Amino acid sequence: MNKCFRTITLYFTRLIPGVLLLIAFTHPAYAQANVVETLIEFKNPDGLIRSLKPAELNTLAQQKTLKVFEVHEGRERQYKVYPAQLVFDQMFSPSWRTADEIIFTCQDGYQPSIPVAKFLTYDAYLAVASADNKPFTLSNALQNHEVVALEPAYLIWDNLKSPALLDEGASDMPYQIARIELVSFAARFPGMFPPAGASAETRRGFLYFRKYCMACHTINGQGGGKAPELNYPVSVTEYFKPGYLKQWIDNPASLRYNTTMPALAAAIPEREKVIAEIIAYLTAMRDVKRMRPAGNSKETSEKLPALPFLR
Ligand code: HEC
Repeated sequence: MNKCFRTITLYFTRLIPGVLLLIAFTHPAYAQANVVETLIEFKNPDGLIRSLKPAELNTLAQQKTLKVFEVHEGRERQYKVYPAQLVFDQMFSPSWRTADEIIFTCQDGYQPSIPVAKFLTYDAYLAVASADNKPFTLSNALQNHEVVALEPAYLIWDNLKSPALLDEGASDMPYQIARIELVSFAARFPGMFPPAGASAETRRGFLYFRKYCMACHTINGQGGGKAPELNYPVSVTEYFKPGYLKQWIDNPASLRYNTTMPALAAAIPEREKVIAEIIAYLTAMRDVKRMRPAGNSKETSEKLPALPFLR
């Protein structure tokens, strides 16, 4: 009798509330509430300026529809967007135009650092929804056709107007943007610079590495948090057999089945030379090994709210 009573008590005190909680947390309304709460942080070197919900961007600029060539899918698509220049003018004040770089930190550690000059040369937009009645996701042909969520915001470029942008592939198109930050590159990533007296080839390689590689990889602990460190404690140029590093950058899938690293975009002008110069940079960095974790997005992304999806 006593045992039966205990069993019933257990049901009411443990199991039933447990099941109710489980239902509550997996209910679509809860999931939706989570998404609505997703914020985009705006920061400058002095710290946090403001956090916004994507819908609140309409207080800074007028929404419009933009058709682009969707590089990740290899076809045209339309998005609901806000012009990046107007958003930055409101958020950072127009002085952002004289700054150095803008870093986008994504939920999974992807962290491109994009020169301000590019935003002054080409028209960039923050997309917050699809305009073609499709979910705000894409099928990433560059990463094994993985379907990825784009919210809270996705940076796109008017590449139908400026075809030169198409040659660069998807390198400056971060999605799941959680933070937009105005920085001085040298102050934020001192550990990535090539040694004093480096050759012109090495210095150009450093610029290419910043453009095409650092969104995912770190050098001396600094850069993106999506892929392995390439210099510390042992440089990839020390343990890759000669020739294989070039082949890896050219076509990673030709060396490792199912790898998620995309090949360097095929249309980049003077692509062979670009690869050789990136390798020259990586080789020079062997001589400046030091762990400088400051600036690594892994460290900062711990403070970001967790989201129910992964890239
Ligand atoms: C979109 C993200 C992304 C970009 C951009 C990227 N990589 Fe990678 N890279 C990866 C991932 C992920 C891996 C791990 C691959 C695996 O395990 O199959 C990797 C692995 C590597 C490795 C092998 C490391 C090892 O020890 O196995 C090298 C070398 C490398 N990348 C160099 C580069 C260079 C150079 C560039 C720029 C031209 C670059 N990557 C751009 C994501 C990226």
